[in-house]
Amino acid sequence: MKPLIVANWKMNPETLAEAKRNFEIIKKGVKTVKKVESVICVPFIFLSALKPTNYLKLGAQDCFFGVKGPFTGEISPRQLKVLGVEYVILGHSERKKYLAESIELVNQKIIAALGAGLKVIFCVGSETKKPDKEMKNQIEKGLRGLNKSVFDKLVLMYEPVWAISTTKSKVIATPQETLEGGLYIRHVLGKIFDEKTAQKAKIIYGGSVDSRNIKGFIERGKMAGALPGAASLDPYEFIKIVKAVDFVNKN
Ligand code: PGA
Repeated sequence: MKPLIVANWKMNPETLAEAKRNFEIIKKGVKTVKKVESVICVPFIFLSALKPTNYLKLGAQDCFFGVKGPFTGEISPRQLKVLGVEYVILGHSERKKYLAESIELVNQKIIAALGAGLKVIFCVGSETKKPDKEMKNQIEKGLRGLNKSVFDKLVLMYEPVWAISTTKSKVIATPQETLEGGLYIRHVLGKIFDEKTAQKAKIIYGGSVDSRNIKGFIERGKMAGALPGAASLDPYEFIKIVKAVDFVNKN
């Protein structure tokens, strides 16, 4: 299983010209990387203008659960799929914080996205320093109604809320904390599904990842990849992150 590195551009950049420029720089930079799967999740408005390749995939940052019809302002998973989008991030903590997105809604979105053939990056995390019941609740409710076959197309992202976008406060998770977060997620998955499914599940980490700390999360934290947000806005920094993981994987 190749490690997965996902850029989450969030509500950036401001212009299409900049989005195209950064996407092309990254495309060139990761072209020769064979041992990492690279994905860029961009705002909806740029999706149709960016052309993914087999070494740089395109992702969205949300989608709706309906197929089509009167859902003002929403984008369906199928609309994403026909644009060449392969991944969608669902349940990100910023959507819970600013839009009060419930886990029941996230569950509906996950089911719809998988049904449309998209791969899902399902974010789980708690406000507390250690994973707690809140995270267990998210995993149980977020995956309700799904069976273990979805793990071919579903990646879990461990995002301790206190470690996200902390470039100024510098409160970042340690590899040991990500290791514990991953173990906790597997423990909960083992209870819902079975031990084999829990061990096989792909778990990545999100929270102030950059080219200097990435190695620790992969090697000691045993993460199957990462989702850098702020650091991914600099295309050269994102390339460095991908290359650092490629290097770890080769050695
Ligand atoms: P950050 O974002 O790298 O800016 O902390 C991570 C995330 O969106 O989970």
